[in-house]
Amino acid sequence: MQLTVSSKKNLKGTLHVPGDKSISHRAIIIGSLAAGETIVNGFLPSADCLATVDCLGKLGIPIQMSNDPSTSLGTSKCQMLRTENKDKAQHEVSNECKIIIKGKGLSGLTASKEMLDVGNSGTTIRLLSGILAGQPFTTKITGDKSIQKRPMMRIVKPLREMGAEVRGSGGEEIYAPLTIKGGKLNPIEYELPVASAQVKSAILLAGLFAGGETIVVEKKQARDHTERMLAYFGADIKVTTNQLTVISKIIGNREFEGKEIDVPGDLSSAAFFLVAGLIVPNSELLIRNVGVNPTRTGIIDVLHRMGAQLEVSDEQMLCEEPRASIRVTTTQQHSNVETRGLRGIKISGEIIPRIIDEIPIIAVAATQAQGTTEIRGARELRIKESDRIKTISSELRKMGEEIKELEDGMIISGSTKLKGAKVKSYGDHRIAMALAIAGLAASGETVVEDSGCMETSFPGFRALLTSLTT
Ligand code: S3P
Repeated sequence: MQLTVSSKKNLKGTLHVPGDKSISHRAIIIGSLAAGETIVNGFLPSADCLATVDCLGKLGIPIQMSNDPSTSLGTSKCQMLRTENKDKAQHEVSNECKIIIKGKGLSGLTASKEMLDVGNSGTTIRLLSGILAGQPFTTKITGDKSIQKRPMMRIVKPLREMGAEVRGSGGEEIYAPLTIKGGKLNPIEYELPVASAQVKSAILLAGLFAGGETIVVEKKQARDHTERMLAYFGADIKVTTNQLTVISKIIGNREFEGKEIDVPGDLSSAAFFLVAGLIVPNSELLIRNVGVNPTRTGIIDVLHRMGAQLEVSDEQMLCEEPRASIRVTTTQQHSNVETRGLRGIKISGEIIPRIIDEIPIIAVAATQAQGTTEIRGARELRIKESDRIKTISSELRKMGEEIKELEDGMIISGSTKLKGAKVKSYGDHRIAMALAIAGLAASGETVVEDSGCMETSFPGFRALLTSLTT
């Protein structure tokens, strides 16, 4: 599927983005382990999160859409609701997806008859592996071609230390398909060698099945949605922070009950429209109900440092997760219209885990900034859905940007008049959407090939983009 984008004179409106992907996955997983009913409002019905639903269904957990209790989600998707104000000043794409999970408690999962398939979802395979490690049965789990190339030793090592038997293909590094023979687990204390919420979550979720206290130590804090949601459900988890480390402790074998959860909009999805509002002239966009968990808001800090006009308001805490409205306005007062008032900056260190999924769209913003932007310490990008250092660099180069690839980042020259080109997504949703946004600031037409992958995290992206630009 191709997406064709051309340059725009302005973008104006109010919008909602679909539910947070990380929180939606966790709501399904933790809701399945809770005793009784969990209702998830604002669930993200994207391919990745539906893979988590499908896997838990195969592990014996009934999961339904509230508006059609007879329909299992494996066969039907939530509707994305869209209303549009006639005067075109307002564009609302809201996600009204509601899920009901009949959780069966910590010992409620049953063996799957088939191999579990996570599709493209790294979060599903890594988080579920933590749960499967604690089950009294064996499970096989795999995913698409991209998943089968992503490193699994990072979860296999701690899960083996806890007592699970995990096998996969490969030697020193391990790849899916994984075979996980679960059982009684021992608690461990584990310092994360890489800042990864997926690894941290796999250990904490396995810790739910361990006899005693499991401890995870982080030097650089990764997103903390698992910790927050476990606390919200009443699991026995404590997180302490000192200057050097964040320490999460969870006590296993303690049941908790189902809850109602409201999932905020995904800041990683909003990021595309934040940058669109900055690089298309005369724009003003208000994005409502976006998650602003501090472990995720690096994009706001980076764009502020680049000189962006972003205003966060109406902050509210619900279900342990903060959310807010974000207004973005094209910087007007700057004399250099070519660079939209943005300036190039250096990005490295602590902030990297807080922007890890936003680096492709930050690279797009950097093409429109005055001066070079240097991103370092982001080697993890090489092992995402695609090698994002390579893929975003090669495609933005086709649009006229000068980018130097580094082993752990890139140097983007900036002040570039982008020109439309035929570009590829490499099957990576965030690359596809970043390139579509770049097309809004490029001369001529930009054709994003293989753009169907946007469904992985942002169903309705194309419709939202169209509603804002026509
Ligand atoms: C995620 C963690 C991050 C992120 C991914 C979602 C999560 O991955 O890139 O999109 O929901 O836990 P890593 O744990 O590999 O950093």
